[in-house]
Amino acid sequence: MTIVRPGEIAFTSARRSGLWRAWDEVRQVTRVEQVASEYTVVEVECGPKLADSSPGQFLMIRPLNERYMVRRPFTVFDADAHRNVVSIVFRVTGVGTAALARLRAGDRVSVLGPLGNGFEIGSDTQRAVLFARGAGMASLYKLALSCLSKRVQTIVLLSARRPDLWLAERELRVAGATVVAVDDESGSSNLDRVAQMAEPWFGEVPCEAYVCGSARLLQLATVLGNRYGRPVQAALEAPMACGIGTCHACPVGRLTDTEGDLVCIDGPIFRARLREPELVPA
Ligand SMILES: Cc1cc2nc3c(=O)[nH]c(=O)nc-3n(C[C@H](O)[C@H](O)[C@H](O)COP(=O)(O)OP(=O)(O)OC[C@H]3O[C@@H](n4cnc5c(N)ncnc54)[C@H](O)[C@@H]3O)c2cc1C
Ligand code: FES
Repeated sequence: MTIVRPGEIAFTSARRSGLWRAWDEVRQVTRVEQVASEYTVVEVECGPKLADSSPGQFLMIRPLNERYMVRRPFTVFDADAHRNVVSIVFRVTGVGTAALARLRAGDRVSVLGPLGNGFEIGSDTQRAVLFARGAGMASLYKLALSCLSKRVQTIVLLSARRPDLWLAERELRVAGATVVAVDDESGSSNLDRVAQMAEPWFGEVPCEAYVCGSARLLQLATVLGNRYGRPVQAALEAPMACGIGTCHACPVGRLTDTEGDLVCIDGPIFRARLREPELVPA
C-alpha cells in the first residue's frame, strides 16, 4: 500500500452553491441528547428546505442568547421532513460547541441553512464505501441512509479511539448497512489492516468512496480509488465565520494571496484524487 504525503491529494469542486437556497431563522430546540459517550445531539425545528437538505449539506448555528458568538458549522446529521426538524451531532472541542451542548429543549437558536454542496451518488454506483473517523460519521450518516434507499450496497468503515465512540453504529446496522467497526484500543484501526480489508471492496463492483474525519483514511481511499479507477468524495472542514462565501475564512488548503475554492460554497464536499506526478525538467 502506498501512503501519499499531504499535498498529494487534489480537491475539485463540482459547482459553487447558490446562496438563495439558504434560510436564516430563529428556531426552537426540540431535543438534546448524549450519545456514544462523547457526543451531543441537538435537534431543532426548521423550515421544509432545511429538513429536505441533501446528505453532506450543513448549517450554521448558535444559541440565540450568545449574542457575540459566531455561528458554528455542522453537517445536518439527520432530518425528519414530516416533523420539520433537523439534528446535528458534535463533540465539545471549544467555546462554541460547549455553548451548544448547554442548550435545552425549548431554548432558541439562530440557524442558517441548508448550505454548501452535498454528496453525489453516481447513477451506475452499485456499492458505496464510507470511511468515517469519530465525529466524521456525522457527515456520512444521512448519505448512508440515502444510498440504502437507492438500493446501493453500503459498507461503512467506522473508526474511533474506543468502541464506545462508534457513532450511529447500531442505527446503521438496523438500516441495512454493512458496518466494519475498528478502534485504536484493540489495534484494529491500524491502517495496513484497514487497507487489506478495504481493497477488495474497491475491486469487485463499480463503487464510490466517501470519506470524513481522517486524513489517513482519505489517503487510503484516494490510493485505492486511483488503483481501481473509482471516484472518491471527501467532506472537508475549515473554521468558518459566515458559511456563505463572504468572509473568506475557509479556503481549501493554506491561506495564500491567491484564492482557490472555499470550503463553504465550493464544498464542503469535494472530489478527491491523487495528483498527477509533476514533470521536473532534466
Ligand atoms: C462544513 C462543516 C461541517 C461540520 N460538521 C461537524 C459535525 O457534524 N460535527 C462536529 O462535531 N463537528 C463538525 N464540524 C466542526 C465544527 O464546526 C467545529 O468543531 C466547531 O466549529 C468548533 O467550535 P468550538 O467553538 O467548539 O471550537 P473552537 O474553540 O472554535 O475550536 C476548537 C479547536 O478546533 C479547531 N477548529 C475549529 N473549527 C474547526 C473546523 N471547522 N475544522 C477543524 N478544526 C476546527 C480550532 O482551531 C481549535 O483548535 C464541521 C465543520 C465544518 C466546516
Ligand atoms: S465561511 Fe466565510 S467564506 Fe467560507
